[in-house]
Amino acid sequence: MSDSEKAKIILNGKDYECPVIVGTEGERGIDVSKLRSDTGYVTLDEGFGNTAACESSITYINGEKGYLRYRGIPIEDLAENSTFIETAYLIIYGELPTRKQMSNFSQKVLRNANLHEGMMQFFDGGFPFSAHPMAILSALLNSVGCYYPHMVTNQREQDLEHFDDAAALLLSKVRTIAAMAYRMKNGLPMIYPKRDLGYSQNFLHMMFTEPYHEYYPHDDITKALDLILLLHADHEQNCSTSTVRTVASSGANLFASVSAGVCALWGPLHGGANMRVLQMLEQIHKSGDDGSKYVEMAKRGETRLMGFGHRLYKTYDPRAVILRKAAERVLKIIKLKDPLLDIAQRLEEKARSDSYFVDRNLYPNVDFYSGIILKAIGMPIDMFTVMFAIGRMPGWIAHWHEVASNPKGKITRPRQIYQGEPERKYVKMRFREGEIPSDYEADEHKSFGDGSSENASAKA
Ligand code: CMC
Repeated sequence: MSDSEKAKIILNGKDYECPVIVGTEGERGIDVSKLRSDTGYVTLDEGFGNTAACESSITYINGEKGYLRYRGIPIEDLAENSTFIETAYLIIYGELPTRKQMSNFSQKVLRNANLHEGMMQFFDGGFPFSAHPMAILSALLNSVGCYYPHMVTNQREQDLEHFDDAAALLLSKVRTIAAMAYRMKNGLPMIYPKRDLGYSQNFLHMMFTEPYHEYYPHDDITKALDLILLLHADHEQNCSTSTVRTVASSGANLFASVSAGVCALWGPLHGGANMRVLQMLEQIHKSGDDGSKYVEMAKRGETRLMGFGHRLYKTYDPRAVILRKAAERVLKIIKLKDPLLDIAQRLEEKARSDSYFVDRNLYPNVDFYSGIILKAIGMPIDMFTVMFAIGRMPGWIAHWHEVASNPKGKITRPRQIYQGEPERKYVKMRFREGEIPSDYEADEHKSFGDGSSENASAKA
């Protein structure tokens, strides 16, 4: 908090002072938490574009400059030098691990790769083949907690006591559940994880190995997948993370909270955008458009250029810069000429020179190029958002912990400005339906001849 700086709000000629909170990177926020009790007024900020919901020490974003840092370390540095699992440790525990910490953490993640055999029933008729893997993922992340009742007590101290185990377990099982959901949906036999494979390699093994054919991914393919997961690992108070924090604020356990996060991520304006980007590129390709018609449609408001725009970034999303290069590299390695990459690059060029996009600061976001890499890896399109969920798991876990371990934490409960009907009377059904003239004064307890009262018949 800044001692000297104060914000003044003048209401009906009277001054009210609010403290100013200063973040470690100099961001400033006006603390209005006492405004309502002091003045009777609340603040209104739909979509929270201007509201800091909490103080957090996990991720820093400067959307104007295009900075993204996990625990202070720039994303470019981590993308170049770290792995998803090491970055997950950094995000969850706040520091890069020592060699020993890293080995213990990786072992813990590895040991938790299998699902309880009881859970296999879910994949044996528990869901229709048509079920979306995000629905399966959300349901099973919550269900997996049922097999570890000591970790899901909804008692803060007890859930926190088992946090290290629960965190490693979720990081590991989210990947197994995802792979098994894919295999179930495609009528493929389940492939179990292996003890000698790294995180991303194990995932690719569970996805693509067959009982009669072991799948060995090219090292660069494994690295590209690991990079995608690392780049998605946290992004401060986005829609799904805010959902996780909201659920956690009620005292709910980690499993329930991340399961809610998956649901929030699913939508096309958030994690679901990566699926929509590829569908958009395929549609443009099939129609023979070079992207110009689609850009014009987006400008007319008939559609959105998926993978473009961001609430925070008013310049390039730094993750998109890294992924654009990675997409070019992966396609070169597997010697694939994907016309969708050309279309994506052309779309980007068109949008970057068009005043509609320039004036609104609409740049490619993380979802614009990730789908091209995922497609090249062989990932089916309905698994794209699932990949985002696996990547975002460390962030959700860290944010749950930040909420659960805050002794001063409050349940999330925003206010609203009510704009509905003023107080009015309940109108009984027979008056609403015009069966009885509106001027007829009904006896409150009059029955309908069949012995039932009006309310009883309405209930039936
Ligand atoms: N294509 C065309 N116009 C757009 C786009 C787009 N992708 N995004 C925003 N605009 C326009 C919008 O129509 C509005 O124009 P006007 O001022 O004339 O009404 C202006 O830009 C501001 O848009 P907004 O919807 O008020 O901005 P927002 O901050 O509420 O929305 C967003 C951010 C990401 C939801 C939005 O840019 C969008 O829908 N993008 C496409 C979906 C997408 O790629 N989502 C992934 C986000 S990154 C990964 C993640 O965090 O999940």
